[in-house]
Amino acid sequence: MTVVLGVGLRSGTPYDELRALVDSALASLEVATVGQIVTVDTKVDEPALLLLAAELGVPVTSSPASVLAVQDVPTPSASVERLAGSPSVAEAAVVLAGAVLVVPKRRSANATVAVGRLVASPYPPGERDVVHRVLAERRDIRRGFVDTPIADDVLTRVLASAHRAPSVGLSQPWDFLLIKDVSTRRKIYDLAMAQRDAFAASLPEDRRNAFDGLKIEAILDTPLNIAVTCDPGRGGRHVLGRHADPRTTWFSAAIAVQNLWLAARAEGLGVGWVSFFEPGEVSAVLDLPGHVELVGYLCVGHVTSFPETPELVQSGWASRRPLSWSVHHDTWGQRGLPGAAASSITEDARMAPEVIPGGVQLVEIVVTGNPDTAALRRPEALVVSVDTVTPVEHFGIAWRPARSVDEAVEHGVELVRDLGLQGVGRIDVSFVDESAVAAGLVRGLELGGRACGVAVVKGEPGL
Ligand SMILES: Cc1cc2nc3c(=O)[nH]c(=O)nc-3n(C[C@H](O)[C@H](O)[C@H](O)COP(=O)(O)O)c2cc1C
Repeated sequence: MTVVLGVGLRSGTPYDELRALVDSALASLEVATVGQIVTVDTKVDEPALLLLAAELGVPVTSSPASVLAVQDVPTPSASVERLAGSPSVAEAAVVLAGAVLVVPKRRSANATVAVGRLVASPYPPGERDVVHRVLAERRDIRRGFVDTPIADDVLTRVLASAHRAPSVGLSQPWDFLLIKDVSTRRKIYDLAMAQRDAFAASLPEDRRNAFDGLKIEAILDTPLNIAVTCDPGRGGRHVLGRHADPRTTWFSAAIAVQNLWLAARAEGLGVGWVSFFEPGEVSAVLDLPGHVELVGYLCVGHVTSFPETPELVQSGWASRRPLSWSVHHDTWGQRGLPGAAASSITEDARMAPEVIPGGVQLVEIVVTGNPDTAALRRPEALVVSVDTVTPVEHFGIAWRPARSVDEAVEHGVELVRDLGLQGVGRIDVSFVDESAVAAGLVRGLELGGRACGVAVVKGEPGL
């Protein structure tokens, strides 16, 4: 570990005294190499300090007392302030050097030392803001594409950024198939339209009407489509980090898509991800080798503008989830932003003022211990299984295996709040399961619904 040594000392401090103090401070650290000594301007020529620097073979950097005086330090001292013009010299000089204090101030009769560990510096504020800006302003684009060709150097930069994505065991399982051919794209478009119709047919009527107005692809409106693929066997048998969780290969390919998306935004290129496909059908049209799988199908081109908010938010189809709902502290369910008091969403819902229901979409929730697949024939039905056994995979089944009644209540609160984000305004609940956890989940739905403006109407238990 390379450390910064902060030193404050009276004029004429003997070298042996200073050296003994420094050695005792460094002795408390595992392995420490001093990278530099820092102090106040007025002490930079002190003989003991210069000898120490020469012995350690490191430079001395000094700062004015007025600059040290404004550093935030753990042990400021009024007497040091009187003598040196700053309430701290050793600690303040370490903090000013951008180091994190690992040994706070130690003192001898005439000197003080503090030790700090250097940490990697963040980007300067202006550059850091640009990174966060790209993340915030990346959009999924389906409209407003123009036929301006994408310059080769721009596309190469975007692909190079995608190709820098992290990957499990550095397996780099992705490839990028650039598709310009219009006849190929027409076939892909037809596949997307068929899936669009299938999805529309699966929706309850009000949701289908809302979906009719949404554009879900720009396959033929863009000069370029990119199929991002995954070769799950890339890297052979012993890819580091993959053996216990094979999904990591697909995660890696998805991160490459995200890198591409962000780099494209920085280059002024819009990207729209289309997933209205059965991936095998796309692979067949693209004539992919059997071992290569489709991960993302992207429509790419220059655009007239980037909307500030996601199109699905603008159209009222869905809303963004607050970050504080998604951050848990040590224990699942203790949620809140860093630095804020963590709380459970059940408690939050209890304390929240009532919100008058506004949305229109109706969901019929069937709470059950044993998923009643007959209910799934109704498109508005969502079967909530509180059973401990994993149910069959079906988007119409929400599995909420609560380990206690309290947890069931919390699941109910979360479920209704998340349905509210997807435009649900009313939930009709029936429960076939009369267990305490099922009742708890329904209580959570009612509690959460009150707090987020979703009307929850309860039928009789056992119906
Ligand atoms: C895996 C994935 C698949 C997506 N599939 C589609 C799609 O088929 N059609 C579409 O219009 N948008 C699709 N999107 C875009 C999302 O709707 C979009 O990311 C979301 O609404 C948030 O908007 P934003 O990306 O502009 O922030 C997809 C996004 C992801 C990550």
